[in-house]
Amino acid sequence: MRVVSGIQPTGNLHLGNYLGAIRNWVRMQDEMDAGNRAQAAAGGSAEKNQCLFFLADLHAISQPHDPAELKAATLEMAAALVACGIDPARSVLFNQAQVPAHAELQWLLNGTARMGWLGRMTQWKDKSGKNREGQSVALFGYPVLQAADVLLYQTTHVPVGEDQKQHLELARDIAQKFNNDFASDEAPVFTLPDPIVPPEAARIMSLRDGARKMSKSDESDMSRINLADDADTIMKKIKKAKTDPEPLPSEAAGLADRPEALNLVTIYAAATGHGVDAVLAEFGGEGFGKFKPALGEVLVETLGPIAARFRELKQDRETLDAILARGAAKAREMGGPTLDAAYRALGLVRG
Ligand code: TYM
Repeated sequence: MRVVSGIQPTGNLHLGNYLGAIRNWVRMQDEMDAGNRAQAAAGGSAEKNQCLFFLADLHAISQPHDPAELKAATLEMAAALVACGIDPARSVLFNQAQVPAHAELQWLLNGTARMGWLGRMTQWKDKSGKNREGQSVALFGYPVLQAADVLLYQTTHVPVGEDQKQHLELARDIAQKFNNDFASDEAPVFTLPDPIVPPEAARIMSLRDGARKMSKSDESDMSRINLADDADTIMKKIKKAKTDPEPLPSEAAGLADRPEALNLVTIYAAATGHGVDAVLAEFGGEGFGKFKPALGEVLVETLGPIAARFRELKQDRETLDAILARGAAKAREMGGPTLDAAYRALGLVRG
């Protein structure tokens, strides 16, 4: 197995990122590590299973940004990931800008990706809105860089939230077309990656609007719980979260037309690891006056230790620089053979 995933270092890590993606990264890291140890004990190679997690700083320049803020946010996001449990000794943790093969492979894949495919991407439509002509070329080509991110490493599994699934389907289409056009069936250049979306937290929604996803680009800070929020802020945000006047139902079907209630129950279920049914078995018939404080406490318990580690780590610039440099060196080494194979397949002459 080869697991690869990324996160944009823009703004703070929020609860949607954590429950939708990062927690799954940590889980997969731990499982693969156990698998590697079992394999080594059985006399096999321990290098077969590997996780790579990266900060998508190259993606971050697809929209207007402040260079100094991007630099600080990249280091902060590295600290946040380590605080969440990504262990740089067991996973390869790096930022794209230190691994030029990502940008190189994107260019090579630009010859295969089709304008029509990119034009259909929901994220492109959402972010460009009515002003397509005024957007950067990078925003349009964004999913090709994302395809390069995963195809570079012969990735088999990509843990992401629901919103990234479409980009990964595109990565598969690009890989498939490239293999068809430039490689033989016996020796494909790229592996087709599978997205892994957690069923219980695929889409965490805004606390202010159950129809919008929780997002770092939402103007209202009350719409999301940030990793760095203290206990009082978390409790306040949950208490102020939009809800309806009805008590909670006893069964999941009763949440069908109640997006805000469904979101809060989903968050509780995902944070505790209990299913939605179990949460409703406990809180069915209760009003939000009882449920919200319980949810707030669960989140304080879940995020508190992470926030404490994060605050400590983000001061330690030297350690963070060293982690990213070491990760990038390893990623450059791991991506080399696939990048070479892509150049060769395209008939490009290099030294
Ligand atoms: P980004 O930075 O927006 O989000 C990082 C991860 O968090 C998940 N996520 C959510 N999950 C559930 N509910 C939410 N409200 C929520 N908001 C965010 C995202 O699905 C994602 O898994 N394009 C990517 C970064 C990227 C990438 C890649 C991911 C670049 N290259 C290659 C995977 C593989 C992005 O902007 O994610």
